[in-house]
Amino acid sequence: MDSFEFSKIAAAVLLALLVIVGARTYIQSHHPHYDEAAGYQLPAPPPEEAAPAAGAAAEKAPAFNPAEVVGLLKTAKPDAGKQAFGKCMSCHTADKAAASKAGPNLWNVVNRKLGGRDDFKGYSDQMKAKGGEWTFEHLAGFLHSPKTYLPGTKMGFAGVTKPQELADIIAYIRTLADSPAPLPN
Ligand code: HEC
Repeated sequence: MDSFEFSKIAAAVLLALLVIVGARTYIQSHHPHYDEAAGYQLPAPPPEEAAPAAGAAAEKAPAFNPAEVVGLLKTAKPDAGKQAFGKCMSCHTADKAAASKAGPNLWNVVNRKLGGRDDFKGYSDQMKAKGGEWTFEHLAGFLHSPKTYLPGTKMGFAGVTKPQELADIIAYIRTLADSPAPLPN
């Protein structure tokens, strides 16, 4: 482009700027709160808009409820649980006389103290410190997501997500005792 054309464009840009700045100065001098009022701060979204979004997120990932698994125990199938227990057997033994392996032997584990198997030396400090007993509800919580239930646990297992499968496994674990704990009502 030649220099004349350039000057024309430059003049047009300058003029446009002058008009904008002039208009702003004029408005500001007549309306001192122009800046705030004109939306330099984005208004917070109204609460009605925020609520359904939170609801939708909750629908996508329903909170895990151990009580639901306990409720399924009455009709759960120990045989199916024994099958599913295959994924635990690389670390856990289930026979009364068997020694512990990479994880503690699970004979009589229902209502046993957390970390209470004497021949197993590999409990995490977190397990030993937590206290309490392996109620059905605690088993459901732990086996659903070991690392959420007990951060720092040494049980390298992701967890059982399906409530029915979890109930079947716990129903099977319950049978690993001379006198199985009564089923919850
Ligand atoms: C990779 C090995 C591994 C797998 C697989 C595994 N566990 Fe464990 N489990 C462990 C270890 C290690 C501990 C001790 C955890 C700690 O002390 O933090 C443990 C602890 C437990 C306890 C607590 C026992 C007690 O004496 O306090 C239960 C119950 C249990 N596991 C059940 C299961 C079940 C059921 C499965 C399969 C669905 C399973 N585990 C899969 C290694 C494993």
